[in-house]
Amino acid sequence: MTAVSAESVAPSVVTALYVQTRALHLEAERTGFIADMLRGAASRNGYALLLRNLLPAYHQIEDGLERHRDDPMLRPLARYRLARAPAIAADLAALTDDELPLLPEGEAYAQTIARAAEGDGSRLIAHAYTRYLGDLNGGQIVKRLLQKSLGLGPRELAHYDFSAIGELAALKTGYRQALELAGAAAADPEAIIAEGAVAFECNIALSIAVQRRLSGPPA
Ligand code: HEM
Repeated sequence: MTAVSAESVAPSVVTALYVQTRALHLEAERTGFIADMLRGAASRNGYALLLRNLLPAYHQIEDGLERHRDDPMLRPLARYRLARAPAIAADLAALTDDELPLLPEGEAYAQTIARAAEGDGSRLIAHAYTRYLGDLNGGQIVKRLLQKSLGLGPRELAHYDFSAIGELAALKTGYRQALELAGAAAADPEAIIAEGAVAFECNIALSIAVQRRLSGPPA
């Protein structure tokens, strides 16, 4: 049997993203509006405000992947077309008739992704990892929580419904593999791993901003 040298095995970008963001994931769960949601203390309006501010970020991920869909590196991700932006827009329409504000943190998150989509777009891998694996994992917990605490139904929870795309367990495995393939083809995996932390930090900042806006005086 021939020994495989450490150099010949490409390190897993997805594992590195997981390790890099593990502490930030814990922080995200314990901070701001996400923490309120986990305690069952979220309001319908608060959840709508969070979605309204995530929507531009999803547009940037999905438009960015679409623009790069013929590039060999991002093709495995782009072909999934997880299309959460239309699902979130539908949830928002079902949740409220109000025009909710785009907070500076929501705008900053979207702009961060827009910058990540420039050039070869490889840093989009980190943003797709953070949001989509989040939706496929913790998002399913959040969905059940919101069903219970706010009585939300399928019309308001399309964000977490992937049934039109595939079976959940298969999607989790398949999407992870697609992220892995894309990461292995990237010229600068370190930049992707660093961007993972940026993606979580954007989510934490947004969660804090949403909580602050809800507890503060109306603008
Ligand atoms: C609402 C509170 C949250 C809960 C209860 C939660 C829960 C979970 C759970 C149980 C997993 C599976 C862990 C595993 O397989 O080892 C997971 C994975 C993940 N979550 Fe969360 N999560 C939450 C918030 C978030 C947020 C705010 C983000 C970032 C936007 C996020 C991003 C991720 C990612 C990227 C993964 C995949 C990790 C990996 O397998 O590499 N989660 N989450």
